[in-house]
Amino acid sequence: MFFASDNWAGAHPSINERLSRESTRFAAAYGNSDLDKAVEARFNEIFERDVSVYFVSTGTAANSLSLASIARVGGVAFSHSEAHVIEDECGAPDFFSGMRMVPVEGEDGKMEPAKLSARIAGFPQDSLHHGRAAAVTLTQATETGTIYTLDEIDAITRIAKANGLPVHMDGARFANALVSLDVSPAEMTWKRGIDILSFGGTKNGCWCAEAIVFFNPELAKDFAFIRKRAAQLFSKTRFISAQFDAYLQDGLWLNMASHANSMADRLRAGIGSLNSTRLAWHTTSNEVFAVLNKASAEAAEAKGAKFYGWPVPTNMPEPVREDETLIRLVTSFATTEEDIDQFLSICSAG
Ligand SMILES: Cc1ncc(COP(=O)(O)O)c(C=O)c1O
Repeated sequence: MFFASDNWAGAHPSINERLSRESTRFAAAYGNSDLDKAVEARFNEIFERDVSVYFVSTGTAANSLSLASIARVGGVAFSHSEAHVIEDECGAPDFFSGMRMVPVEGEDGKMEPAKLSARIAGFPQDSLHHGRAAAVTLTQATETGTIYTLDEIDAITRIAKANGLPVHMDGARFANALVSLDVSPAEMTWKRGIDILSFGGTKNGCWCAEAIVFFNPELAKDFAFIRKRAAQLFSKTRFISAQFDAYLQDGLWLNMASHANSMADRLRAGIGSLNSTRLAWHTTSNEVFAVLNKASAEAAEAKGAKFYGWPVPTNMPEPVREDETLIRLVTSFATTEEDIDQFLSICSAG
């Protein structure tokens, strides 16, 4: 019953097998092997256009270096107030980009377009003292398990473009959002005006594989140097490529995300049907936020369930009572129906 994070899951056997196979041969280092080139080319097919791809080790590196690539001196970057880039990366995006992250409010973990416009207006290009607007970053799927619809992405990118700002997407859970919306990678990104994507693999069955995808090659022109200076150029890059090779083979990445999402659906249905539990808000990704009575939560933990408590937002549709607790449950490619049924059965007895 491991629901603490999709980061807790291992790696898919096909990815492990591909890594083992790779480890028996010699190949050129620093991203120059045939495999590196082949996997980079695979991203062109997936996104239906020529893209520039750079592999890095973590989601934080992907986000921070993406923002570094579009940084301006005295620039500020806008994200949702609860976004990982602003809340959970220890200031790495600010450190690597030299820009200040400015929060934008909005329901359901998504920036509200009118609030984004108002925030941008507060940082005009000649704003020497406050800093000038330089970039927008949005998270898909969001930190609260919700997903921007295509129209909602359009609304954000339209405002950004009207102000001349490039847009980055934090896709740590890109595959989960994609299968939930049932759209193509192109439709959810560059066709909506996204310029740079952090394409996550680690949370969805890889061991350690993240890619930065540039849809506009002009924005990538200094990126090789930015990555090297940030100590993110791996000599054995081919082991990241090997993971992506298996990940992108025969739709494995989409199958794993579909599985994770459908396990979350099973959790959502079960939690919604019990007396002692309820959904805190509606999500459509592999993250579920639930209100449990404290006795159920303690019983589940005592029987080995792993999950994290979550701070109660001020705008909860239904308040969390004294004898209740708000928790986050995350499913992955490795979650089983048995895990979920066991968890629900413990809660139903609570
Ligand atoms: C939405 C989101 N973005 C980025 C990250 C950062 O990933 P990492 O922990 O690999 O740096 C996370 C990790 O939890 C995340 O949830």
